[in-house]
Amino acid sequence: MDKEKQTRYAFHVTGQTGWINDPNGFSWYGDKIHLFFQHNPYKNTWGPMHWGHVTGTDFVKWTYEKIALSPDRPRYDSIFGAFSGSAIEFQGKYYLVYTGCNLRRQTQCIAVSDNGVDFTKYDGNPVLDKKDLPKKSSIANFRDPKVWEKGGKVYMLVSAKNKYGGRSRLLLYHTNNMTEWSYGGVVFSNQKAKTAALGHMMECPDIFTLGGTDVLIISPQKVKGHKNRDASVYVTGKLNYGTGGFECAEKNVREIDNGTDFYAPQTMQTPDGRRVMAAWMATWNRVPINALLGCGYAGALTFPRELTLSDGRLFQNPVREIERYYTERYEEKITLLGGTRYIEELSGKVQNITIEFLPTGGKTGISVFDDGKGNGLKIYYENRTVTLDRSKVIRDFYPSPSATTAVCDTPSDAKKIKLRLLMDKYSCEVFVCDGYSAMTTTVAPLDAQIKTYIFSDEEVFVTVARDRIEVK
Ligand code: FRU
Repeated sequence: MDKEKQTRYAFHVTGQTGWINDPNGFSWYGDKIHLFFQHNPYKNTWGPMHWGHVTGTDFVKWTYEKIALSPDRPRYDSIFGAFSGSAIEFQGKYYLVYTGCNLRRQTQCIAVSDNGVDFTKYDGNPVLDKKDLPKKSSIANFRDPKVWEKGGKVYMLVSAKNKYGGRSRLLLYHTNNMTEWSYGGVVFSNQKAKTAALGHMMECPDIFTLGGTDVLIISPQKVKGHKNRDASVYVTGKLNYGTGGFECAEKNVREIDNGTDFYAPQTMQTPDGRRVMAAWMATWNRVPINALLGCGYAGALTFPRELTLSDGRLFQNPVREIERYYTERYEEKITLLGGTRYIEELSGKVQNITIEFLPTGGKTGISVFDDGKGNGLKIYYENRTVTLDRSKVIRDFYPSPSATTAVCDTPSDAKKIKLRLLMDKYSCEVFVCDGYSAMTTTVAPLDAQIKTYIFSDEEVFVTVARDRIEVK
């Protein structure tokens, strides 16, 4: 296999070259899924932002399209570029709505297309500027518009930091024509929830309805005490389109994915009505693992997930289309009398593994990307929580212990523990108890780190299954 193929993920989106961060413009247009991303094509580090672009029909196989937006307008985006935003089809045309970023000035801009690949920036940009901000908001941190349609109108949710202190607000705007926008109120403020989990600036908001409940997604920066510094959370409730206010169903926000590499998720709706989410599979304050490995690109997006809501909790599972790429299934029922067991058939780096067992009094789990000497990515259940420990699969890249482990909850009444691992060479996305919790991590396994083991402190009956994933 050539070096290029070896260093590419099998089914995760990366830039063709260079750096990527947030997913942008995740949407359906012209019989295709469009996924854009924050992109610096020239370097493996963040730089003036372009919008990279891929299209596909099944979330697994993607075609690179030409770069959709470049930093080329001195008046509003040529210095730091086209920051995050979203996309919408409106009256037959396809619009990208993004933040133009120059020195201490962030404004909302649009670009339009009638074929889904060539985008023309609107002459009247920006469509939202300093004059459109409510009092106290700062034009230096006014970004990440998410647009959606309701009742013939297009709404925009956009984040604005206050001029002083670590306060920020999500603002609502609406339009009938994409170019003239009216202010519609404050949707959410990080003062409101009175929780440290809302950090400073609430980046990349998203909002959608699942079974009659509105779900608001926020990626707050600088969350106190958080292992990743920046996190992504959600809160459920109801958006009042009259006042703009979001009435929260509960005070607390919850983290969407408890892993080490998940930030700035964005969602879209498929024609068959599913709500699908993708995120940046990395986070700020760290160098993406592929850049450290010299893969020729930096960063990737998570594999898209279907979202459902149950009792106010967001469930996430990989989109079902991945199953079309399953090649060989292996299943075994194992009685493990404590200790560790090597399962040759489960070894590999690009696969979907599930293990199921009854909750035990001790520790029960799996080690993948393992070299046979105890150095693997360990995921185990113990005392109602699932822990992920990647300390042995990231070499010496991340000296801080805080980025090496992660913990998530299991349902308190779980009769069975189910761990699903979606592995792709440098990443593992873990789904616990059918999507009740999720943890995403990137890893840097050596060639020898390819084996899979299960382990337990006690006697346990485990069902294991593996599907290889092959994307040609
Ligand atoms: C989130 C973010 C956004 C911004 C973009 C810049 O990761 O900081 O707020 O638009 O990245 O690349």
